[in-house]
Amino acid sequence: MRCWERPLIEIIRLSVNGDSHEIGVPSHYTLLETLRYVLGLTGSKQGCDKGDCGACTVLLDGLPTLSCILPVQEAIGRQVTTIEGLADPDGPHALQDALDLTGGAQCGFCTPGILMSAAALLNVNSSPTRQEIREALSGNLCRCTGYTKIYEAVELAARALREQRPPAEVLRS
Ligand code: FES
Ligand code: FES
Repeated sequence: MRCWERPLIEIIRLSVNGDSHEIGVPSHYTLLETLRYVLGLTGSKQGCDKGDCGACTVLLDGLPTLSCILPVQEAIGRQVTTIEGLADPDGPHALQDALDLTGGAQCGFCTPGILMSAAALLNVNSSPTRQEIREALSGNLCRCTGYTKIYEAVELAARALREQRPPAEVLRS
């Protein structure tokens, strides 16, 4: 490789899951590539890598964002939340428990992106209708589950969060 063919490395500061990181990244990297290949956060999945499947969804200042088509420079100065940052210190997020209880994850490849889109929805709407859930997850493709169990999981998690009870307890009541 000739020197002018080497990727240009930029030093940037990124805030991910509440931690600030000063890192060197190839300047052509997307946010997803930076998360996975520089920071080792491989929970966000590299599916289509062109903005079609939603597997790479993370939150950027709380809004669901396709990290595979976002140049990493656009995340500088903003709060990035990935699936690794979703759980509470005490245990899994209600959405994670609910998805487990309803069987809404099968191969699991779409699951991190679905969880982040659903978390963004519940952050602004504590009692979403089925149609609102459908719309919030419309950019997240799942080839395994048929979606019904995923929608049920979001409804269960929403109720659990409203009632401040674990999803398993809500399901039994
Ligand atoms: S990997 Fe980003 S939308 Fe498919
Ligand atoms: S669980 Fe396999 S793609 Fe959704």
